[in-house]
Amino acid sequence: MSVSGWYNRTLNKIWGFVEDRTAMRRWALRPQPAFTFKPSYWTGAFVAVALVYQIISGALLLLYYQPSTNATLTACGQTVGSLSTAPAAWCSTYYIINSVPMGSILLSSHLYGAYAMIFLMFLHFFRGYYVGVYKSPREFSWMVGTLLMVVTLGMGFTGYLLPYTQLAYNATNVGVVLALRLPTLGPLIGPFILGDGTSQGLLSRMFDAHVILLPLALAGLFYAHLSLFESHGIAPPATSDPTQRRRFTDKEEKDHVPFIPHIFFYTLKWGLLYLGILFGIAALWPWNLPTYVGNTAAAAVVTEPDWYFLWLFKLVDFQGVTPVIAIGGSTAILLYILFLPFLDRSKRTHPRDRPVFIYLATCLLEFFILMTVWGGETPGVQITYPSIALGIGPIFGVTAVAVGLFHWRYRLSYRRRLAARQMSYAGPYPRGAPSVSGSHPTSAVSEVGSSD
Ligand code: HEM
Repeated sequence: MSVSGWYNRTLNKIWGFVEDRTAMRRWALRPQPAFTFKPSYWTGAFVAVALVYQIISGALLLLYYQPSTNATLTACGQTVGSLSTAPAAWCSTYYIINSVPMGSILLSSHLYGAYAMIFLMFLHFFRGYYVGVYKSPREFSWMVGTLLMVVTLGMGFTGYLLPYTQLAYNATNVGVVLALRLPTLGPLIGPFILGDGTSQGLLSRMFDAHVILLPLALAGLFYAHLSLFESHGIAPPATSDPTQRRRFTDKEEKDHVPFIPHIFFYTLKWGLLYLGILFGIAALWPWNLPTYVGNTAAAAVVTEPDWYFLWLFKLVDFQGVTPVIAIGGSTAILLYILFLPFLDRSKRTHPRDRPVFIYLATCLLEFFILMTVWGGETPGVQITYPSIALGIGPIFGVTAVAVGLFHWRYRLSYRRRLAARQMSYAGPYPRGAPSVSGSHPTSAVSEVGSSD
């Protein structure tokens, strides 16, 4: 027997033993169609990988971090100069970066990992939006996902203040003022966020929310999200099928692979690549700790949040946009996303069949990117009505034309292909008759519109 044959047989034996003794086929997630071995099908799993790293790195950071605003003589690991009067929260962060072995990589990778998780989550969200995964029967998966998005952004918001830098303190205060303006919810959550009104009160609450409350909410929602995913299975490719939602074909139905080891190791492979890149970036470009709250040299510090909230901060700079309007607008966007499955009721999932909703998604994406860049380039600079119209108007206009053309062009080609298929089929049923079984040749019609 060749060495590789022996190697494969031994591995199979070991795996068979593990599979049998752990009974994993019963508890692992359900098998999935083999064609889903594409990163686009597992964007949510990549978010989950990023989440796992955040939990591990966060737990390690907790070993050293001190959530206190009291000045300390020791937490920085040195007592020289102005650092001796720095708050413990900042000092312990300084200590992690400068004195804990690999501390700089740990802290930087936790921070960049949060950016990556939020970026991957947006990717997961927009991919799902474009290919219509929110449609029946996955409405609740979508709604729970929207709540996950809110909680994840909340994790970012609350974590931002923890190093207790003046930059973060200013931005958190703006965010808190905006949150307090939330209709109905604002006055309710106000006392919880502000506590006794002191800086320590605010820091303690942000810390509590970041390490206990929001992680608990995240864990519960993630469990619900995965359970729903397990119940409905992965969403089939988008389709223009005029009569029915795309189901898996007979061949796809047979061609399933077990979650463990196949999909698990597939995700793990991408996860390891993710970690490699994350550590590489953290090592090459470690995060520089900005100056601490109360440092007189910090008087000129601008107020700037992390990149994923820049759009909201910029919105407040728009002429005529008060905090109430800004927060009201973002609540409206959130409600739109939450109830999207009930707004877009058509059964067709392909982007070319949903021009209005695709237009709205594209505008949302463009608005987010534009405002983020704008907010980063000119933080705090007022934007007048003409600049708003010139900045946003043409983009939305061009998008309307592009989506309209896309819709028109593909409807035409889809109809042509549909007609060609029906012409080539000379069976006992009249042309265009609905399919009676998945394997009947007319079911080929449902494949015409498959996107993946
Ligand atoms: C912390 C954030 C999130 C995590 C960890 C997460 C995780 C996952 C995972 C692991 C899956 C299984 C399929 C896959 O890997 O893509 C999934 C599917 C899904 N997610 Fe998320 N998700 C998150 C946020 C969201 C958001 C923001 C939305 C949309 C608003 C969403 C909507 C969905 C839907 C509809 C499915 C089923 C779609 C399918 O079968 O392809 N998720 N999610």
